[in-house]
Amino acid sequence: MASVTINGVKREIAVWDPGEPLLYVLRGELGLTGAKFGCGLGQCGSCTVLLDDRPARACMVPIGSVANRRVTTIEALGTPEKPDALQAAFIAEQAAQCGYCTSGMIVSARALLRQTPHPTIDQIKEALAGNLCRCGAHTRILKAVMRAAGAP
Ligand code: FES
Ligand code: FES
Repeated sequence: MASVTINGVKREIAVWDPGEPLLYVLRGELGLTGAKFGCGLGQCGSCTVLLDDRPARACMVPIGSVANRRVTTIEALGTPEKPDALQAAFIAEQAAQCGYCTSGMIVSARALLRQTPHPTIDQIKEALAGNLCRCGAHTRILKAVMRAAGAP
C-alpha cells in the first residue's frame, strides 16, 4: 500500500506493481480521467498532473515513487459549473478544438501562474513547450493563459 494525497484527500493505494504508471492508477482505479493517455512516452504532456505542485508526466511516474507525495489533477481545479479562472479563460478564448491536450495544458499553466502570476508570453511558451496540441490551437491557448494572468 502507498499513502498518497490526491486532490487534497489522503488515499491508501494498493500497489501491485511499483512500476505501474501513476496515470493508469488515476484513470483506471480512481476514475480520474481528466489526465489523458497520449504518447505514453513523456513527450506530449496530455497526462500532466501536479506532483507536489510541479508539473509531472503521469505516464512516466511509477506509482511506487509517489508515496507520501501530493498529486493534483485537473479535477481539483474547477467544475463545468464553476470553472477556475484559468479554465474560464480557456472557455472565453475557445482555446480547444478536440480538447485532448486541454487538461495537460491547463495543469501546466496552473503551475506556471502559481509561481509566476504575471508571466511574459515567452515564459508561457516555455512552460507549455512540453505540451503538444495536434489541433494547432496554440495561439488561442497562449491567449487564454495571458487572459487568466490578467494581461492587457
Ligand atoms: S501520455 Fe504522458 S507525456 Fe504523452
Ligand atoms: S485541442 Fe486537440 S490536441 Fe489540442
